Amino acid sequence: MEVSFKTPVYVIRPNFSESLLDELETDIYKIQSDSPSIQVSNINGWHSETDLFTREETSIKTLCGLLMTESTRQLMSMSPDFDPKKYDGEFGGWININPRGGANATHHHQPWDWSGVFYVKQPKISDEGGRSGMIEFINPCQQSSGLAKKGFMNAGLSPFLRFRPNPGEIVFFPSYLLHSVYPNETDDDRITIAYNLRLNEKK
Ligand SMILES: [Fe+2]
Repeated sequence: MEVSFKTPVYVIRPNFSESLLDELETDIYKIQSDSPSIQVSNINGWHSETDLFTREETSIKTLCGLLMTESTRQLMSMSPDFDPKKYDGEFGGWININPRGGANATHHHQPWDWSGVFYVKQPKISDEGGRSGMIEFINPCQQSSGLAKKGFMNAGLSPFLRFRPNPGEIVFFPSYLLHSVYPNETDDDRITIAYNLRLNEKK
C-alpha cells in the first residue's frame, strides 16, 4: 500500500468527433484576426480574452462542454470523497497561439482550484530530443532533488515533470502547480486552450 503526498497531473484523452480539431482551428484563427493579444505569461504568442466559456462559435461551445464533462469525471475518479452535487463549477478559459519562438513563462493559475490545457495543434518536431512544445511542471517539493539524483528520478521525486502533449489531449492539474511552456521551434503554430475551474460550495 502506498501512503504519501502527491501532486496529480493527468493526461486525459477524450472522445470527440474527428472534425472538431479542424473546426476549432478555423474558428480560432477567425477570433485571432478580430482581437489583439492580451499580455499574461505569453512570450511572443497570442493570448485571447478570457471569455472562452461565453463564446458562441459551435466548435468552442462543443469543446467547453467536453472540458466540463471530462474535468468533473476526472475529479470524481481521483477522489471518491468528492461530491460534485455540493458545488457549482465556475469555469474560465482562453486560447493561446504560439508561433515560432512562442513560449509561456513560469506561472500558476491560483486562486482557481483546477486547471487544464487542451491541445488543438501541436506541430511535429524534427528533433525528438529537443524541448519544443513541451510543458514543464515544477515539483512543489524541491527538497526532493537530492534523492532524484540518487536513482529516484522516476519514483515521483524528480524536480520537474516535462512532456510534449499530443493534439486532442487534455493536461489536467491543480491550479497551484507552477508550470511553463518551452518555445515553439517549428514554423507551424502551436494552438492550445487553457481553462480553470473553481468549485464554489452551494449555499
Ligand atoms: Fe498555465
